[in-house]
Amino acid sequence: METQIQPHRPEPVVLDDEPQLVTKKTDFSEVATQLQASYQAVINDEYPTGIRLLNHLKKRIFGTGKRGSYKGYRNLRSDYHEASNRLLIPVEDHKIAVPKAPEIGWLEKLYPEENRFYLTLPQIQGLNSSWQWYQKGIQFPVLDQPVYPFYGTYFPTRFDHLILFDKWLTKYQGSKASAYDIGAGCGVLSFQLCKHGFDQVFASDINPNAVISIQENARYLGVGNCISVQVCDLFEKWEQKADLIVFNPPWLPAGEEASGLDQAIYYPADLFERFFDQAKEYLSDNGKLVVLFSNLGQTTGTQSHHPMDEELEAHQRFQKIRVIKRKVKGGSKKTKRRNNRHQEYVELWELEKWQKST
Ligand SMILES: C[S@@+](CC[C@H](N)C(=O)[O-])C[C@H]1O[C@@H](n2cnc3c(N)ncnc32)[C@H](O)[C@@H]1O
Repeated sequence: METQIQPHRPEPVVLDDEPQLVTKKTDFSEVATQLQASYQAVINDEYPTGIRLLNHLKKRIFGTGKRGSYKGYRNLRSDYHEASNRLLIPVEDHKIAVPKAPEIGWLEKLYPEENRFYLTLPQIQGLNSSWQWYQKGIQFPVLDQPVYPFYGTYFPTRFDHLILFDKWLTKYQGSKASAYDIGAGCGVLSFQLCKHGFDQVFASDINPNAVISIQENARYLGVGNCISVQVCDLFEKWEQKADLIVFNPPWLPAGEEASGLDQAIYYPADLFERFFDQAKEYLSDNGKLVVLFSNLGQTTGTQSHHPMDEELEAHQRFQKIRVIKRKVKGGSKKTKRRNNRHQEYVELWELEKWQKST
């Protein structure tokens, strides 16, 4: 039975005493300076004014020159994040309360009891883009029907690792009684497991929105009986062993503590140690452990050690059966920004429990 889960949502912003009111006639450079100096501003005419002001701020912070190091870019992104999140927009009766604004269904679904409040413009943009995906759905090449990701849920926009996993599942000969999908996100790997005939999939994610998303989509896809899902850290709320464990973890080391959707991208220092330590208890003796990973950490220079090599070298918990790699196809325009993308590949690590050699 499903229990009611409280989703994460952008929390309404508390207004400072005298925020600057912005119209299309306001001097944008002056407002940008105020935003960077920690003062709030509120859009007071129409939605496109806010978008133009954000573009102005973006140009001012990032400039138009060449991109520097990955680290330098992350710092600029953080400056932009802070300043842009001081630009506010009013919401009233579940709608953005300025003209020419998009209709966003999340304002009703996520704030049923709030009538009048302020959100930041980047939050509104995030809600808007997520609403578009939720309406349209995303068609993964490995599933027959689209998945409609709930607000704040990670879903992949490039599919190489899904295709790799699909090929692996096609050849898989072991028992299909049960499997774990750890860090299940929008549930795409769980849905693949059901499609490939697993009877029971136990999915978990630390993000409540992901769990709501999986519950909703499992119903649409008609696999509600195949999947059980929990909001929890790794295996925390589960007890039984399974024939297969699949984990598509975040692929980049976290510089500082990650929260929200960043937890899908950046992993804390102890994640892999904790995962493997628990996985050995939850995998049945003849079971398989599959980890999907990538060399993104190495190509971006943010990772000196591969977490999988570290595990296999330092412990006698698991042994490698094989690693399958697939070159990442040229991504979207956005992803092509990183010029070392062409060297990127995704990896499927197939492991089994470590056995003492005789
Ligand atoms: C890279 S995404 C993978 C999502 C999905 N399995 C896929 O392949 O598209 C990683 C997911 O792991 C979740 N996650 C991160 N740390 C976790 C933890 N300690 N326990 C459970 N889930 C975690 C994130 O919230 C995110 O949904």
